[in-house]
Amino acid sequence: MSDSAPPPSTSPDAGPPADADTAARVRDRIDATRPHPARVYDALLGGRNHYPVDRAAVLTSLEHNPRGYLDVRHNRDFVRRAVLHLTREAGLRQFLDVGTGLPTAPNVHQIAQSVAPDTRVVYVDHDPVVLAHARALLTAGPEGRTAYLDADLRDPHAILFGARATLDMERPVALGLAAILHFLESPAADEIVATLLDALPSGSAVFLTHLTPDLNPRTLLPALRATGLDFTLRTHAEVLRFLTDNGLEPVAPGVVPVHRWHPDDTWHSTDLEPEDTAGQDALEVAARRGIGDVRDEDINIYGAVALKP
Ligand SMILES: C[S@@+](CC[C@H](N)C(=O)[O-])C[C@H]1O[C@@H](n2cnc3c(N)ncnc32)[C@H](O)[C@@H]1O
Repeated sequence: MSDSAPPPSTSPDAGPPADADTAARVRDRIDATRPHPARVYDALLGGRNHYPVDRAAVLTSLEHNPRGYLDVRHNRDFVRRAVLHLTREAGLRQFLDVGTGLPTAPNVHQIAQSVAPDTRVVYVDHDPVVLAHARALLTAGPEGRTAYLDADLRDPHAILFGARATLDMERPVALGLAAILHFLESPAADEIVATLLDALPSGSAVFLTHLTPDLNPRTLLPALRATGLDFTLRTHAEVLRFLTDNGLEPVAPGVVPVHRWHPDDTWHSTDLEPEDTAGQDALEVAARRGIGDVRDEDINIYGAVALKP
């Protein structure tokens, strides 16, 4: 929801909560008084499923780092390229996407099923607003399947148990951990990643992204503080350890700033004249911009894909 939009719908058309009681319980869990990661991310991606408090936090953040939207847009584009790589090159047909975020275009199942229509995807998030909108994630074609789990990454056993209803856990699974591990402190994050990866068979994979203080901390840190969210930033070595400590082999070029991981030719830049943006706030302007003018000093998030031998 942007400023003028109504609160997240929990109507049957919007997501899984199909009856009035369930919808009311979901609504009760929504906290519109402070920013939440899924909604802040939605605002930065140019979505409309956020509250004024999220939008205000992002606008303050953009005052500190006007090009901060590029981290988020390039993170999402990394997800697209990673999922394409895993379906095309590695032949993965099952995805467990933890920390899904609000529906966006394209979602993981749409990316994977554009290559392999029989791909199965289980989405997992703990945010009630994502739950309220999850129906948009459940649009698999006739050959594939998608499911949504309202679950917390802090309980990996519940995620593995819930995923079994849709995924064959004896066959390779691509685990998605994009822009979520920086919401978990250590050692919890390390133990959770180990539990999830240990449960997956040989031939499985992980794609992950993670905010880092390594690259451009002078712009990143004040911008993150302005969001009011708590982050655990990790160095290159710490991000790499999520993979290598669990016996996974990173796909070349390894752990790199997201825009450096197999860039493709789909990016473009958009020149906007002052008259094109008159009366628009920084988020509305950012949403209209392309991401092709990215520079190394814009990016503060690592991405990697790794395979389980
Ligand atoms: C920044 S968004 C990333 C969305 C998507 N993975 C991407 O990279 O495009 C992070 C998501 O992780 C979810 N999240 C954060 N902590 C979580 C937890 N402990 N359990 C489940 N989901 C969580 C948030 O609700 C949010 O939707």
